[in-house]
Amino acid sequence: MDHDLWTTVDEHLVATLLPHDPALDAALADSEAAGLPPIAVAPNQGKLLSLLVRISGARRVLEVGTLGGYSTIWLARGLGPGGSVVTLELNPVAAEVARANVDRAGVGDRVDIRLGRGADTLAEMVAAGTDPFDLVFLDADKEGYPTYLERALELSRPGTVIVADNVVRGGAVADPGADDPMALGIRHFLSQAGAHPRIDATAVQTVGTKGHDGFALLVVGEA
Ligand code: DHB
Ligand code: MG
Repeated sequence: MDHDLWTTVDEHLVATLLPHDPALDAALADSEAAGLPPIAVAPNQGKLLSLLVRISGARRVLEVGTLGGYSTIWLARGLGPGGSVVTLELNPVAAEVARANVDRAGVGDRVDIRLGRGADTLAEMVAAGTDPFDLVFLDADKEGYPTYLERALELSRPGTVIVADNVVRGGAVADPGADDPMALGIRHFLSQAGAHPRIDATAVQTVGTKGHDGFALLVVGEA
């Protein structure tokens, strides 16, 4: 495995395809300064999220796991007029950093940050009869993915796109003896996605600045 090469290629792709973006750089710098873990999506992954929002024509986007709002900014940038992102975060420090980051990036009017346990907030949204989301991005604690998927389905319509980050985790996903709760959460999540009659899914491995990982892409079918 050549992490240096993956990083060099990622840097080349980003330098070639993505315009320099001071608001995104500042979002990462302020996240780091606040002591948040440096685990935001890579810039080229963030751009993929933005393009998925745009391609799907999503107007209502749900994110589980805001962290410092870096991916939130990318998601919000893909929205057409009138679109919005609801993003759920457990850590109040992260939520505060994210608020400032999305505001500085000029998308604050389209972003609703809800503080609390993701599973609780999702259950509240289901109970409140919240309108379905068009695209859901799961990027919170991996142990929680199976629950997040169940709630996300209740907040979906036929055609809703669900993207899940970190589904490979250096290969742990394919280790049947894995006892790491994060790997177990991901394995359970993928089994659910594969077996669910309403879900059509794939997952793709990635290498790059974030090492060897991957994302899953799901589409929700008729109930
Ligand atoms: C890690 C990376 C992520 O993108 C994430 O959402 C959580 C954890 C990690 O590298 O540990
Ligand atoms: Mg992630």
